[in-house]
Amino acid sequence: METAPPDPVPASLVVVRHPLVQHKLAILRDRGTPTKIFKELVDEIAMLMAYEATADLALDEVAVETPLERTVGHRVAGKKLTLVPILRAGLGMVEGILRLVPAARVGHIGLYRDHDTLEPVDYYFKVPGDAAERDFFVLDPMLATGGSAVSAVASLKRAGATRIKFLCLVAAPAGARRLADAHPDVTIYCASLDRELNAQGYILPGLGDAGDRLFGTR
Ligand code: PRP
Ligand code: URA
Repeated sequence: METAPPDPVPASLVVVRHPLVQHKLAILRDRGTPTKIFKELVDEIAMLMAYEATADLALDEVAVETPLERTVGHRVAGKKLTLVPILRAGLGMVEGILRLVPAARVGHIGLYRDHDTLEPVDYYFKVPGDAAERDFFVLDPMLATGGSAVSAVASLKRAGATRIKFLCLVAAPAGARRLADAHPDVTIYCASLDRELNAQGYILPGLGDAGDRLFGTR
């Protein structure tokens, strides 16, 4: 099936093409993949994507005493990275990233897409108070129309955040464009930029309803 989108790719979009990510994504897309495996794959892909998305974290030098001598090592600088899953499907990406960055803080943004208008409806917001000093990763497996992502990033910015990345698994061209236009400072990481949205706002070829597949609520 054709997955390449026709539109020009926004400059702020990074497609993580690592073979393991692509292998796992193909299993994730499969309609026959059961909830347990789906959950494990979202977790694993999120961790691999976070490896890419943390590649530019600032480092401080730190003195280390090895068993043999004193040397200089490095540690991640500044306040702890903060993960912000968009409820509910974004929750599936948290644990995998925490295995990579165990000290990360976790905020939450509650949003759901109105079934008729496809516009996001806010219901919860909680992030650490010192937002201006932190790096944020907003997590949501699906970037479809982009409404949820634009709203989540705007809420974070109102709370003072200035350094924000958006990590998703599958993006639609329209959603990537909308997020890039609204927040050009936010780098978007995805495992695939898919072809298009259908009339109901689902990504094609996509993987279906991520929240339902993660939590078995279909
Ligand atoms: C899904 C998905 C995103 C949103 C993407 O959530 O997890 O949050 O849709 O669509 P958009 O880009 O068009 O805004 P949904 O609203 O189904 O809520 P859920 O995670 O609670 O199932
Ligand atoms: N939300 C999903 O879970 N899947 C889509 O394809 C679009 C929005």
